[in-house]
Amino acid sequence: MHRTAVVRTTSEGKSIMQRRSIFGQATRTVAGAFALAGAGTLVTGAGASAQTVSSAKPIAPTATATMGAIAGRSINLTTAWIDASAVYGIESPSGLAGPRQTVATPASLREGGAVASTGRMITSEGKNLPVANGLVLAGDPRAAENPDLAAIHTLWVREHNWHVERLAKVHPQWTGDQLYRQARAIVTAEIQQVTYSEFLPTLLGPGSIPQWNGYRSNVDPTISVEFSVAAMRFGHSIVSNVVSREAEDGSLTGPEMLLRDAFFMPASEFVKHGGADGFLRHIGSDVSNTLDAHLVDDLRNFLNDPPVAIDLAAINIQRSRDVGLGTLNQTRVALGMRPHADFSQVTPDPELASRLKTAYGTIDRLDLWIGGLSERRVRGALVGETFHRILTDQFVRLRDGDRLWWENQSWDRGMAQWIRETTIADVVLRNTDTRRMQANMFLAAERADLGRPGVALAVARTDPHRASGAPIASNEVRSHDGTGTNAQFTALNGVGWQFGRIGPARFADGVHTMVAGDPNPRAISNVVVAYENTSIPAEKASAMLYVWGQFLTHEIEFAKSGTEDGSVFSPAGDPVLATGTMIPMTRLAVDTSTPPAVPGGASRPMTPPPGGNPGPASGANPQPRR
Ligand code: HEM
Repeated sequence: MHRTAVVRTTSEGKSIMQRRSIFGQATRTVAGAFALAGAGTLVTGAGASAQTVSSAKPIAPTATATMGAIAGRSINLTTAWIDASAVYGIESPSGLAGPRQTVATPASLREGGAVASTGRMITSEGKNLPVANGLVLAGDPRAAENPDLAAIHTLWVREHNWHVERLAKVHPQWTGDQLYRQARAIVTAEIQQVTYSEFLPTLLGPGSIPQWNGYRSNVDPTISVEFSVAAMRFGHSIVSNVVSREAEDGSLTGPEMLLRDAFFMPASEFVKHGGADGFLRHIGSDVSNTLDAHLVDDLRNFLNDPPVAIDLAAINIQRSRDVGLGTLNQTRVALGMRPHADFSQVTPDPELASRLKTAYGTIDRLDLWIGGLSERRVRGALVGETFHRILTDQFVRLRDGDRLWWENQSWDRGMAQWIRETTIADVVLRNTDTRRMQANMFLAAERADLGRPGVALAVARTDPHRASGAPIASNEVRSHDGTGTNAQFTALNGVGWQFGRIGPARFADGVHTMVAGDPNPRAISNVVVAYENTSIPAEKASAMLYVWGQFLTHEIEFAKSGTEDGSVFSPAGDPVLATGTMIPMTRLAVDTSTPPAVPGGASRPMTPPPGGNPGPASGANPQPRR
């Protein structure tokens, strides 16, 4: 858990952090401030010199929703399918990306490009990720954000090449393209399997996600803003403030760093002292931070040398207002759940309830993100009732509405079994110098305890590829822009697809103007998020829960940033920031045209009623199973 760990060596990392931004491209404005854009890209901020403590641009208190107006919908720059786009990159229409949100193309990550492909992904020395501008380069541009995340990206590129090497031996006649396609399909299936058989059961409790029961072409898999801006951001609460590399015996092989000093670690630093292998071992042994309403200071105040301050908690709250997210209670009602009558119904912790009351005054303004994090946990899960519903719903829709979900593809029996048995520990064992790893890497285990009673070891598996194995069918090869998965709605969940909504939009004008009068996000952060209930027992989950959650987020989401300023300003009495210090944020780009048609029709709510998906299974893959 290491919440209070003392850093040993920070000076080098600290100076790196001051030069680099959360997304590596910090630029100082004339006023000397940073601005945080849509999905974390930094751009120079409009209104950098403004000094006000309001949380949003002031609007006329009498503003009412415009009749018939269409609420703005933010835009996803990556494919929302779990299709390993974070590993392989995406093909994006030119002009789609927001400022500084350029993504890597698949061809640029392949050895020989698309034309003279060997089938392998490009690596740098030591089977590490390629390097551009001193940082590791991967299919998602945020891969270098922290070294643990970079280590997971490294792992999947190695896994791709591991399969290519073995496939090439048994299929010497296959072209580079065939090898690439086959390995990409396997890696995609493995990522799906780790997500649904390890990550989600750890987070939501075993059995929360019903078994796959066939592809359903009438399920709308669109990512909801409730998921993107609130529920999936649960992960910000479990991030540890310490990053380390461990040797096989668990001893540290390099300096233990504070997270704040490890953002955008240069590639040359990343590979030292055991590199990805050492980071991965530490991820398995480090206990996840508690999933609650508290965030480590590294995320809340990690750029706190005035006048620059990025408080991720304040940004999350402001972002929810930017996208017109309903409050916790509005979302509960939209999900068919009872609204909370007061703060003591939200959380069993009286101190937290009292702080929520101080920050919000009334339960009806309680924001979804912080309200959801505060809720009493569902039995067997790490999240409360509202997040549980939103997360379960989203992951079921993402799976059941995916024609190319791995179980709907025509793998031969041996390969299907291999995928079903894949665990993240297994992938680590065959792609790093690690010799022993606990079987369930999502549960923390000290390396000294590996193999002791109660800590079963992962078993290294042998090469699954046979000369009799057939290449993936052409109608099962995913596009690189996510289109073509649903036969009727071809653009569904592809690059540029919009986020959807479970509940009604909460805008002052029904379209885009933020509601006035909500409490200041930084004030909420200071009162609620800074509070840590140290009596909650430590999590059993490992840091893998956070790392996988962040990797998965980047796999399915990258909201397009716009240009309008949405900065937050620190309130009077802020314990760290001078009154009126700007916490920079740029509002997301939105589309206010008629929404695209979705499976099931617009009249049907996005989220199915509790207990199952609507409609019959359909559109099963025409290829017979071999
Ligand atoms: C060191 C760890 C992390 C850092 C520094 C970080 C930072 C950020 C930043 C700066 C944003 C953009 C905020 C905005 O402008 O609205 C963001 C978005 C987001 N984060 Fe994190 N994050 C971390 C870990 C995680 C984890 C562990 C999860 C989930 C388990 C997560 C889930 C999300 C989601 C869902 C979004 C919205 C993405 C989008 O739609 O573009 N993050 N994060």
